[in-house]
Amino acid sequence: MSGGLRPDEDLRARMASDVPDRLQSHIDRVVKIADRLARRHSLDVERVRLTAQGHDVVRHVPGAELLAEAERRGIDIDPVERDVPVILHGPIGALVLHERYGIDDERVLFAIRWHTPGHPDYDGEAWAMFIADKVDPHKVKRWPALQEVAELAKESLDAAALRYLDLRAEQAVARHFEVHPMATLTRNALLRRLGIASAED
Ligand SMILES: [Fe+2]
Ligand SMILES: [Fe+2]
Repeated sequence: MSGGLRPDEDLRARMASDVPDRLQSHIDRVVKIADRLARRHSLDVERVRLTAQGHDVVRHVPGAELLAEAERRGIDIDPVERDVPVILHGPIGALVLHERYGIDDERVLFAIRWHTPGHPDYDGEAWAMFIADKVDPHKVKRWPALQEVAELAKESLDAAALRYLDLRAEQAVARHFEVHPMATLTRNALLRRLGIASAED
């Protein structure tokens, strides 16, 4: 680690030559929002910032390359990931952060691995990064419904995450998008945790 830099700042400096400027601007906004959410919800700010800084390390890599890389490594590839290989920037990104950048915090790597669909075992720190990523003002501008996720996140990260996954599910139905199975498992877990799961009769 370089002297005096926080872990996320050190990682940012080392990622600079690999990540296009536009992507780093998105990452900078996510780190800022994630930091704010971490403080608001009394989370581990340093871990949240590092997760946010690393989350999109290979987001600029074309889907076909991500798919080829996943196949080369023998990663389990879900049929949805085969159809929408950009989702693989999470799992591949986590491996790259470990191998090329020496990140060894398992919780950071786990959060990054699943940052597109979320995961039932996400902790507060993972949710802070996940939600910060979804409410980047540039994304809210393109899809104003996300503003509600940003508002909910002030009170409850679980409620904000559930709203996000509900919005995605509604969009999936309306546009015939596939839903990643882990997004469904995550949504179910959040419904149960928030005590609002209701079985169809
Ligand atoms: Fe991403
Ligand atoms: Fe992102």
